[in-house]
Amino acid sequence: MTARPRRSCLYMPGANAKALEKAKTLAADVLLLDLEDSVAPEAKAEARAQVAAAVQVGGYGKREVIVRVNALATPWGRDDIAAAGAARPDGILAPKVESAAEVRALDDAMSAAGFGADASLWIMIETPHSILSLAEIAAAAKRTRLAVFVMGLNDLAKETRARAGVNRAAFFTAMSLAVTAGRAEGLTVIDGVYNDIADAGGFEAECRQGLEFGFDGKTLIHPSQIETCNAVFAPTDEEIFRARAVIAAFALPENAGKGVIKVDGRMTELLHLEEATRVVAVAEAIASRA
Ligand code: COA
Ligand code: MG
Repeated sequence: MTARPRRSCLYMPGANAKALEKAKTLAADVLLLDLEDSVAPEAKAEARAQVAAAVQVGGYGKREVIVRVNALATPWGRDDIAAAGAARPDGILAPKVESAAEVRALDDAMSAAGFGADASLWIMIETPHSILSLAEIAAAAKRTRLAVFVMGLNDLAKETRARAGVNRAAFFTAMSLAVTAGRAEGLTVIDGVYNDIADAGGFEAECRQGLEFGFDGKTLIHPSQIETCNAVFAPTDEEIFRARAVIAAFALPENAGKGVIKVDGRMTELLHLEEATRVVAVAEAIASRA
């Protein structure tokens, strides 16, 4: 069971040396070192070199380090992937992916850049075409490094002209389809960013909403968002307690070979055992980071 916690995924501009350094002290599960939207065209080459050097030197501990590259269709994409491949982060995040063919092209580019089979490919789900092709895109995970979907709702808002409003109702379909398509192929699926850094209450509400939709975690833009995000996306003490009770009940000799039993008065099936095992694995992985 892969139980790598990916609750808090903090973006930082690759051109911002201070942020790359500060990240070594932050409790984010994942660092997304950005070469794309947050880096101006004139600064692309310098940011690429700076990110590659930071990754190579390391010091990020157990944090998963992912480099967000520019799209292959841009003048920078191939060089970004080549530089990342030489520096060996845990993987790359590619923007504006719209088809299975693009996933395969990215995977091939990773191989050419020297990434091992254990590196992961994360992709942004952020254009109308990506939403309409989610099933096909997710299915490309079968023969590639594709492991994670990341919602890009700022771009999707721009492309569709839908507005987030107070509760993101205009994006429910896209969010739910992304989670469903991702789960169909066993992917991790991460929610989009919350832009209003000063609004802690609104941020927490959006974390909880993302959890209800089934997201594994949320992308973040500021260190002040990490703690709340980690708390919301971690299994609660009660969930861990229940999960352990389910595992213990199925392990009893009298329940050997049974498909359904009663635990604490509730009907409990093997599917609940599977989920309980996942919850405990995630909780243990989180505890091992603290
Ligand atoms: N990652 C790491 N460190 C960050 C950070 C981030 N995303 N955002 C801010 N910090 C650091 C600052 O460097 C500063 O460090 P210091 O205390 O050592 O001086 C501290 O956190 C406080 O920052 P603050 O002054 O509140 O913010 P700012 O005005 O410096 O930066 C933003 C505001 C929005 C420019 C910045 O948060 C940012 O660049 N966020 C990420 C943007 C991004 O990557 N977008 C692409 C994906 S949507
Ligand atoms: Mg984007």
